[in-house]
Amino acid sequence: MNQNQWKARKVVIVGAGAVGATFAYALAQSGVADEIALIDFNQDLVKGQVLDLAHGLPFFPPLHIHVGSSADYRDASVIVITAGAKQQPGETRLDLLKRNAGIMKNIAREIAVQESEAVVIVTSNPVDILTYTVLQELGWKAGRVIGSGTVLDSARFRYLLGQHCGVDVHNVHAYILGEHGDSEFAAWSMTHLAGNEIDRYCAICRKCNNWQAVREEIVNEVKKSAYHIIDYKGSTYFAIGLALVRIVTAILRNQRSVLTVSTFLEGQYGVRDVCLSIPCIVAQSGVEKIVEGNLREEEMQALSRSASVLRNTLDAMSK
Ligand code: 2OP
Repeated sequence: MNQNQWKARKVVIVGAGAVGATFAYALAQSGVADEIALIDFNQDLVKGQVLDLAHGLPFFPPLHIHVGSSADYRDASVIVITAGAKQQPGETRLDLLKRNAGIMKNIAREIAVQESEAVVIVTSNPVDILTYTVLQELGWKAGRVIGSGTVLDSARFRYLLGQHCGVDVHNVHAYILGEHGDSEFAAWSMTHLAGNEIDRYCAICRKCNNWQAVREEIVNEVKKSAYHIIDYKGSTYFAIGLALVRIVTAILRNQRSVLTVSTFLEGQYGVRDVCLSIPCIVAQSGVEKIVEGNLREEEMQALSRSASVLRNTLDAMSK
C-alpha cells in the first residue's frame, strides 16, 4: 500500500464531558485508533480535555489527537456520540428526551452533510431511543448506526456472576438484553461458565442453597448498578468508556465480536421498529449480523415487554 492509500483510523467523539473524555483516554491507551477528534459546543471544555490528553502523548501509543469540528465527520471511521443535555429544574424526562432527540438530529444532519462513511455509535441516554432517532435522521442501513446498548450491563452481569461463582470474568459468557434501562433482563439460556451452561454449572458447583434467589439478586444488582454509582459520585464513566473501546475495536479491527449493542430490529425475535440490545456480530460495517438464538418463553416475553416500553416512548415523543 502506498502512502496515498493509507487511511488513518479516525474516531470522532462528540461530547467532551466525563464519558467522552474517559472514552478518549481509554481509546488513546488502547492504540486502536490513529487519530481522535474531540468535539463539543463548550470550546473551553474541549480545549482543556484535548490539551490534558495531548500531554500524555509521550506515554500513549502513537496517536494524533485534536479539537474537532463537523468537517472531521467526513473521513472518520467511527463517530461516537456521547453528547446530551441534563434535566433542568421542572423539566420532565420526556421534555429532556425531546431536547436530546433534537440535539441528536442536529448532529446527524451535520454527519449527513459531510457524506461520512463512518459507523455511528450512540451512547447518550436513553440510548435505545436516541439510537433510533439518529438512525431515522440519517436513513442509513440499520447496522451502521448502533447504540452502546447493554454492552455495559452485560459486563456488570459477568462481573457479578464471576464474583459470586469465584470464576475469572473472562470465563463467564453472559448477556443482558433488551432496553438499556429498567426493563432489561438476563438471558439465562445463553449464560455459560467455564464451558458449561449455567444450570449445569450450578449443579456441579452446589454453592448456593437457593440459586433462583441468588440469580434474581444478581440481576437486580445489575439493574441498580448505575443508580448506585450515580448516588455515590454523580455519574458513571469508567466502565462505559471501556465498553466503547471494546465496540470501536471490534469495528476498526473487523473482529466480528459478539456484543449486545443496541440495533434496529426488523422482525427478529418477533420485534420490529425499535432499537434494543440482542447479541450481534460487530465488525467493520457495524452490526454485520443479528444472532437469532433460542430464547426461553419467559425471556421472549421479557424482550417483548422491553420493546413495548421503547415503542411507547417513541410514540409519546412524536406527539
Ligand atoms: C450507565 O448504565 C448511566 O447509562 C449509564 O452507567
